[in-house]
Amino acid sequence: MTAPAHRPWLDRTLPVAERVALLRAAMTLEEKVGQLVQVANPDPVRDADALAAGAFGTCIVASGEHAGNVRDAGTQAEAVNALQRAAVESSRLGVPLVVARDVIHGHRTVFPIPLGQAASFDADLVRACARVAAREATADGVRWTFAPMLDVAQDPRWGRVAESWGEDAWLGAHLGAAAVEGFQGADDAGPRGDGTFAADALAACAKHYVGYGLAQGGRDYAEVDVGPRTLQNRHLRPFRAAVDAGVATVMSAFHTLDTVPMTAHEGLLRAHLKGDLGFAGPVVSDWDAVGELVRHGVAHDTREAASLALRAGVDVDMVTGAYGGHLADLVRSGEVPEELVDDAVGRVLALKVRLGLLDDPFTDPARAARVHLTTEHRALARRAAASAVVLLRDDDGVLPLLAPDGTGAPARVHVTGPFATARAELFGTWTLDGRGEDAVPIADAVRERLAGTEVTVDDGRWPDAALVAAREADVVLACVGEHPMRSGEANSVTSLELPPGQVEQLEALARVSRRLVVVVVTGRPLALGRLAHLGDALALVPHPGVEGGHGVVDVLTGDVPASGRLPSSIPWVTGQVPLHHDHLPTGRPLDPGGPVGRYRDHQDGPMYPFGFGLGYAPVEYGALELSSSRLEREGRVAARVRVANRGDRPTVETVQLYARARRASVSRPVSELVGVRRVELAPGDERVVSFEVDHGLLAHRDAVGHTCHEGGRFVLTAGPHAGAGSSAELDVVPAPHGRTAEPGEVPTHSSDR
Ligand code: NOJ
Repeated sequence: MTAPAHRPWLDRTLPVAERVALLRAAMTLEEKVGQLVQVANPDPVRDADALAAGAFGTCIVASGEHAGNVRDAGTQAEAVNALQRAAVESSRLGVPLVVARDVIHGHRTVFPIPLGQAASFDADLVRACARVAAREATADGVRWTFAPMLDVAQDPRWGRVAESWGEDAWLGAHLGAAAVEGFQGADDAGPRGDGTFAADALAACAKHYVGYGLAQGGRDYAEVDVGPRTLQNRHLRPFRAAVDAGVATVMSAFHTLDTVPMTAHEGLLRAHLKGDLGFAGPVVSDWDAVGELVRHGVAHDTREAASLALRAGVDVDMVTGAYGGHLADLVRSGEVPEELVDDAVGRVLALKVRLGLLDDPFTDPARAARVHLTTEHRALARRAAASAVVLLRDDDGVLPLLAPDGTGAPARVHVTGPFATARAELFGTWTLDGRGEDAVPIADAVRERLAGTEVTVDDGRWPDAALVAAREADVVLACVGEHPMRSGEANSVTSLELPPGQVEQLEALARVSRRLVVVVVTGRPLALGRLAHLGDALALVPHPGVEGGHGVVDVLTGDVPASGRLPSSIPWVTGQVPLHHDHLPTGRPLDPGGPVGRYRDHQDGPMYPFGFGLGYAPVEYGALELSSSRLEREGRVAARVRVANRGDRPTVETVQLYARARRASVSRPVSELVGVRRVELAPGDERVVSFEVDHGLLAHRDAVGHTCHEGGRFVLTAGPHAGAGSSAELDVVPAPHGRTAEPGEVPTHSSDR
């Protein structure tokens, strides 16, 4: 198709930048500003005038400012098509919209919450889940998701830990980058080398830039105070990885960082993200965050707020209306340079060109029925749910419930607790398009799998009746935990204990049960100290999604190996948090023979450390062997460890490599995750697992983001979780001047993420 002469930007053969320049040059100032305005839930009839004027360029389909836990009517291809038709046919230049939605952990097929996906430690799985989410959401006309969330979450009082990849920056960077690739289709669809996306690709959004996970006291939206090195080494790291992975957009966060609201943080947005890191896409504000600059006390009114935000580098104003109301005037009065508007518009238009919207903004309404919740998507959701199950305790091998050959089912099983029959509650926060009726409850999956077993079920509403049934059973599965309303945005808690009454009920069940298996379904790492000796087995399951029941039962029966690992440390009690494996050493380390910590009323360490999780077979680790005890300037060293399955069941071992710098110019963490390998081991199998260690893997960043390769002695440890395994020492020759890369320089090795 050749482009009409009056719309040369429609010529598909032109490079993206040229099409953008042609379109932008044709725009009035008002039309340009319109591209920077994002509205919520527009309607082609009600908003006909605004559409004709090109008064907004993107929109979000959402139920409101706390959309994460509030369902809405959803979006459908016909509705989006009607909107696009109005935008294209009624406006002077015919520019289509980008329709955005929070597609966080699946669309119609709901996968485990990100914290649950993180428990897999499996980037391929995360990528596959995001790919399916994109395929399904694009069938409803959505082309932009506000995911992945990349905030490193070390304080589980903060409800948004549910949306995170856990406490570790390396894991967050790897899984976050994989999610970006999945949404955008790096593996089988796009970006296709020419900067354009396939029709089933969603533009991803790395959020919330940056440091939001440090909200004081875990109170959502609260201030953040963090030093520049910790910001660089921990909190910016997943964002650098996302930029390297080609993330299309970034969202600035709500909070103030060292007194500066992120929506107005020129240093971190315009200078660092867009400058040093070279991010070329649009930055969108969080919901109403431009307007909130007034409440933060840095702007008199929304006019000043618009000026501050645009100057800082926020290109798109999500729902405040401050840009639409004031930017044109600010430019005319000379308060905001038009070049800044042009730059922002260029970024938005480039996104539209890359998404193919200028060429075809419409979605085939028949596609949703073909791609939503297919058998294949359900199978992936089931695998993901099983991978999210972290087995924490299994006294006397009460689990798995079945022998390796599938026999030995208990004669009577009682399934009890609020999660026994739960459906939509299995989804977790941010599930806008999942349907409860699609979900498989745990009790249904037990009945399905243990066909010859007498299965009784109660939903925990009558705790006394549950005890009567439990007394009769050979095995009791107590499915307790947090309702999704207790995690996610704006859902902080002061206590990480199980919800009121649940521990008491578990104690009562323990008194009458022959064998008690406790399954804790949750949106956050809970403090499980009171469950230390309760029952015979304990599993933690971050909200597992639509196939949650099957996934949990697959693991409990042993049909699927127990393979989940903790993406966050589990504290004994709430007062221990923040608690994370990668803390700095103190000048007064604990004496191994002395008190167990600094608290007068508790030990310091976690109940279960980061990376922990049991399998159904004992895995033996050999000594860590290095191909050389010295890493030269340009060199690489192989770190190898032998792992052996000494049990009678297949297992999946997640071998983790940690590093500790003995000495550096600044104090570095006692434990830094630098590599993960998941290996499948049949009974009796032995495998040598190998990691490639290079300078990038051991580097850290200085206060402005320069990579520092300082050299010196490092201790490497390969093991099953943080703080365990076999170690070896490595002498690292420093790079010239101790520094080899400038901020934003693309790493030469993926391990530098
Ligand atoms: C506010 C949340 O902080 C953000 O994560 C989300 O994408 C937006 N609302 C839009 O719903």
